[in-house]
Amino acid sequence: MDLSRSAAWSALVSHKHEIDNLHIRDLFREDSGRFERFSVSWGELMLDYSKNRITPHTVELLLDLARQAGLENMRGEMFQGEPINFTEQRSVLHTALRRPPGYTVEIDGLNISDEIADVLRQMKVCCEKVISGKWKGYTGKRMTDIVNIGIGGSDLGPCMVAEALRPFAHGKLQVHFVSNIDGTHSIETLKKLDPETTLFIIASKTFTTQETLTNAITARGWFLTKALDDSHIAKHFIAVSTNRAKVVEFGIDEANMFRFWDWVGGRYSLWSSIGLSIALYLGFDQFQELLNGAHAMDQHFLNEPLESNIPVLLGLLGIWYNNFFEVSSHAVIPYDQYMHRFPAYLQQLDMESNGKRVNRQGSAVEYATGPVIWGEPGTNSQHAFFQLLHQGPNFIPADFIVPLKTQNPVGEHHDILLANCFAQTEALMKGKNEQEVKDELEAAGFEPSELNTLLPHKVFPGNRPTNTILLSELNPYTLGSLIAMYEHKVFVQGIIWDVNSFDQWGVELGKQLAKTIFPEIQGSETVTSHDGSTNALINAYREYRLKGKISASPQLSFFDEP
Ligand code: F6P
Repeated sequence: MDLSRSAAWSALVSHKHEIDNLHIRDLFREDSGRFERFSVSWGELMLDYSKNRITPHTVELLLDLARQAGLENMRGEMFQGEPINFTEQRSVLHTALRRPPGYTVEIDGLNISDEIADVLRQMKVCCEKVISGKWKGYTGKRMTDIVNIGIGGSDLGPCMVAEALRPFAHGKLQVHFVSNIDGTHSIETLKKLDPETTLFIIASKTFTTQETLTNAITARGWFLTKALDDSHIAKHFIAVSTNRAKVVEFGIDEANMFRFWDWVGGRYSLWSSIGLSIALYLGFDQFQELLNGAHAMDQHFLNEPLESNIPVLLGLLGIWYNNFFEVSSHAVIPYDQYMHRFPAYLQQLDMESNGKRVNRQGSAVEYATGPVIWGEPGTNSQHAFFQLLHQGPNFIPADFIVPLKTQNPVGEHHDILLANCFAQTEALMKGKNEQEVKDELEAAGFEPSELNTLLPHKVFPGNRPTNTILLSELNPYTLGSLIAMYEHKVFVQGIIWDVNSFDQWGVELGKQLAKTIFPEIQGSETVTSHDGSTNALINAYREYRLKGKISASPQLSFFDEP
């Protein structure tokens, strides 16, 4: 039966009408225990979800929805390695990557834990060699810079983690991430580097991704312009992939290949050897801490009753707004500058997972899935888009992520940062009603006519929901837990929406069409095979090229003096 016609769903539709006129600030006034009721403390993390448009009955009804969807059963299936990614006939076992040794997870009768341990050992050895300087480049120098070339899950996770954990880096290596096919990304990165001391990691699950291979070829060209001899590639190029044949075809030594497996989805792969750039930058022990933190959250998700299960609660609250208030976006605001790539990382995790139009049976869904995820760090975001959050006609729920400890205690910065964070969630929730604005304007001496003009512009409706996630400190362990928390939130929502959260067919069509258009751009014929708009755009660019404004076969001379 379609989810939106189920008993649990109908009960939530009715309940939404009942609570529509309730204001969160009244709920706080009426219930002095609201914070205790709607918050969970777990290790170094605390979720405060009391500033939501919910009553205890809302939570009961949402939990009914989760139970009706068989969430507990599906959760077990994921952890046990059932092929729940059924459109690709794959298990979903990123959780196995962060389990401590000595357990058994079988796929087709094979215990995968030994293979995972082998790759972790290989990563550890590589980290020790590179960080200690035993790994020498083609001229005998130690490596100073790592360049991870990958895109999507082979970039966003490692890049986000490296940025977030910058204070934990050992400082012997710099790390850079090249993802975009725009040549600017490669060139701007490479021009700062020296081929003699640069180690490239070509990170691609499939090793067929156009952007990554094109950037890798450019990097190889840049390297060989100085190194001259192909045999030197072995000392400067590492591959991380599931596709051994393609790695070898590219010319990377098999000994320099770190494998992972098709049961690790791209956007869930930072825990695998795709995390090598993280391990090199921070040191292997810190990478292990990241895995440990994620594993602890896995255990919480697996064992905690649904009513106090953090990812379950977050997933259900998202569904409450997305489906019953028809809110189609969700903001994520980290109050930590090191987390500036976190919203971008979450975009892929959430939107590539649950942005699906058909359910697991292949029928079109009759409800929204996968909200737009977006955000920027506070306080910058306050001076950009918070106006809309406070006074736009629709409300947008938001997660505020706040480490209590700063890595850079300077003056009063951190106290001011946190004061702003807490003030924003209070303001979004409480708002300022007409009477309060009126009193304020009168006290400031405004004349009645002026006051009446200003009044509606200064009213804040409030009742705008937020979750606050407090971390004692942003460190490898807590970041691991936080990422796993969001992974499981996305899982919970996917199960309830009855979609396959682990495939991504929606990215294919654009890739296919780009393959057709690419030779057309370079061809000599006027293009007529597409719609009028696409033909005109392609031809505009072709003509621009033909006028010689863009060289048809650019020759890059990387090391020429200006
Ligand atoms: O854009 C789609 C996608 O397949 C993502 O799911 C994936 O993370 C990314 O491309 C990169 O893929 P690969 O690691 O195979 O290069």
